[in-house]
Amino acid sequence: MRKPLVAGNWKMNLSGAQAEQLAQALVARVGQVDRVQIVVCPPFPYLLRVRAVLAGSKIALGAQNCHHEAKGAFTGEVSPTMLVDCGCQWVIVGHSERRGGKVQEKDDLIRKKINAAHAAGLHVILCVGETLFERQNNETPSVIENQLVGCLEGMPADKMASVVLAYEPVWAIGTGHNATPQQAQEVQQFIRNWLDDQFGAGLAAATRVLYGGSVKPDNAGSLLTQPDVDGALVGGASLVADDFVGIINAAPAGK
Ligand code: PGA
Repeated sequence: MRKPLVAGNWKMNLSGAQAEQLAQALVARVGQVDRVQIVVCPPFPYLLRVRAVLAGSKIALGAQNCHHEAKGAFTGEVSPTMLVDCGCQWVIVGHSERRGGKVQEKDDLIRKKINAAHAAGLHVILCVGETLFERQNNETPSVIENQLVGCLEGMPADKMASVVLAYEPVWAIGTGHNATPQQAQEVQQFIRNWLDDQFGAGLAAATRVLYGGSVKPDNAGSLLTQPDVDGALVGGASLVADDFVGIINAAPAGK
């Protein structure tokens, strides 16, 4: 049974006080929810403050990124071990805002981050997704497959057990244009088939594949009830307690 997972990626938003207020609102409203696994990923400087608010609730803490080394001369970076020390159980890697733009993270680096996160004991949310140009050129399957191969091919099964995938079409992130439920299902079934080919039916059936990209309370139900959509990675709507709670409430029982 795959328990639904709804993760909030707060990105580079909120003040420390606002982050605490948002976490308090979530603890009050969904802090004891067990049916859905809930993760919030605040900016690094607020991890400890949010951790204190989440204490005693079932909401887990995650980070938005990590470095691929455990320590060393890497100015401005944060290691997976430090994230664990700050109370994180999760880390997002491979987000399109880090694959693209000025950061230009490549699959081999993302693979190193997954390994480092696993070594530190973190669970990983690995994002994959195509740009609009790639979709319009019918390259979606090959782009997704290349990302999966580059980040995950040959990973031992024990590492894969701590990986959750997130299909995030780049054209849907922060645009208000979500993928249709059919588009999400099509790609997410493709991802599960790839997992089946690589790692076998057991792991493919156990691995959660989230959808991300303009998920809101009013589209969450139709997206999250697709057979291969096991939850959501939420950006903008995760900054508003009502909206994030609405998405959590729209998640069906596990599949
Ligand atoms: P969005 O962001 O919900 O604001 O589209 C999703 C994400 O970047 O994970």
